[in-house]
Amino acid sequence: MILVTGGAGFIGQPIVTQLLDAGHEVRILDLLHPAAHDGLPEGLDPRAELVIGDVRDADTVDRVLEGVDHVCHQAAMVGLGLDIDDIADYVGHNDLGTAVLLRGLARRNFTGRFVQASSMVVYGEGRYRCADHGLVTPPARAVADLDAGRFEPGCPVCGRPLTPESIPEDAALDPRNVYAATKLHQEHLATAFSRETGVPVTSLRYHNVYGPGMPKDTPYAGVASIFRSALAAGRAPKVFEDGGQRRDFVHVRDVARANVLALTAEEPVPGAFNVCSGTPRTVGEMARALWAAMGADGGSAAAGGGGGEAGALAADLEPVVTGDYRLGDVRHVFASAVRAADVLGFTAGEDFDAGMAEFATARLRGA
Ligand SMILES: NC(=O)c1ccc[n+]([C@@H]2O[C@H](COP(=O)([O-])OP(=O)(O)OC[C@H]3O[C@@H](n4cnc5c(N)ncnc54)[C@H](O)[C@@H]3O)[C@@H](O)[C@H]2O)c1
Ligand SMILES: [Zn+2]
Repeated sequence: MILVTGGAGFIGQPIVTQLLDAGHEVRILDLLHPAAHDGLPEGLDPRAELVIGDVRDADTVDRVLEGVDHVCHQAAMVGLGLDIDDIADYVGHNDLGTAVLLRGLARRNFTGRFVQASSMVVYGEGRYRCADHGLVTPPARAVADLDAGRFEPGCPVCGRPLTPESIPEDAALDPRNVYAATKLHQEHLATAFSRETGVPVTSLRYHNVYGPGMPKDTPYAGVASIFRSALAAGRAPKVFEDGGQRRDFVHVRDVARANVLALTAEEPVPGAFNVCSGTPRTVGEMARALWAAMGADGGSAAAGGGGGEAGALAADLEPVVTGDYRLGDVRHVFASAVRAADVLGFTAGEDFDAGMAEFATARLRGA
């Protein structure tokens, strides 16, 4: 039996389905958090046992751990948060929830695998190299530069342009908001638990996850969902800066498969892994790929989102690069897929264009 916390969520659902397809028994523990769900979500795999309950509650955790061989911990409050008022909720669901779960496992002398969802947000800014000064950490971009449309950070020593590089797992960690701090703390808690108990723990640092079932444009949703929702509503996606920000967009089915691999690999795969496609894209490229896919299939996209005239869709909705910016956004952040490939045997398999085409018309949660 494999326990999937947060198994009713965007990423949890395909994990559950892939585990069931591989012949495992699955129990879901999910609170159906009102920020994520409006009642029982569509598409829950009926083959899984569903326990509606809170991972922060010790009695619930003890009950759901009965007969469990491995644990896949996805439950969390997700997103950036709207303001500091959310701080206690994030820490409660993410840090305390993980702590209660780990204590429950220790009390039961658990000897299986513990795999949990971490995030690229633990890195903060991306990695940059100066031709003369090597790896450098550029300071936060100045408002004057951003106002002038100078979006690329410069070398802190010589000011010359930097080349962004993919981030390996051993890069410096620099969580920059409450959510990011909780995801890193989850990693640290699990590592401490592992040291005490000998249980191997794996933290999977997902990059920008997209795909069917993604929440629609709540304040917590990712940029792919926001663009997708704009297109469906008959609005052109607004691309910030000059659209050249690089990210790694990874399909939710690939993320689910990475979890299945970590849970079922013959030898445990402890430590942190980037879960990414390994091919960075710009935000502008992603907006255009979605737009192209919706234009090509305008009829069903409009039907799905209640948007405008199918025929007019493509021309009117071409993504607009606004030059606007949000202070605190990072310019480039994308990951090295090497460790996941070498140690976990994970390589993303979903094609970007096909994935975006599917996403353009797929069901969104809350739509
Ligand atoms: N979506 C992304 O791009 C992304 C990127 C990096 C990491 N992650 C991580 O992946 C995991 C899954 O995220 P998601 O995108 O599927 O979000 P989601 O909101 O769809 O799923 C999270 C699930 O956890 C449940 N949950 C929240 N608090 C709970 C609690 N106290 N007890 C039990 N269940 C609880 C929610 O009801 C929800 O079903 C999270 O840990 C998140 O931090 C997501
Ligand atoms: Zn330099």
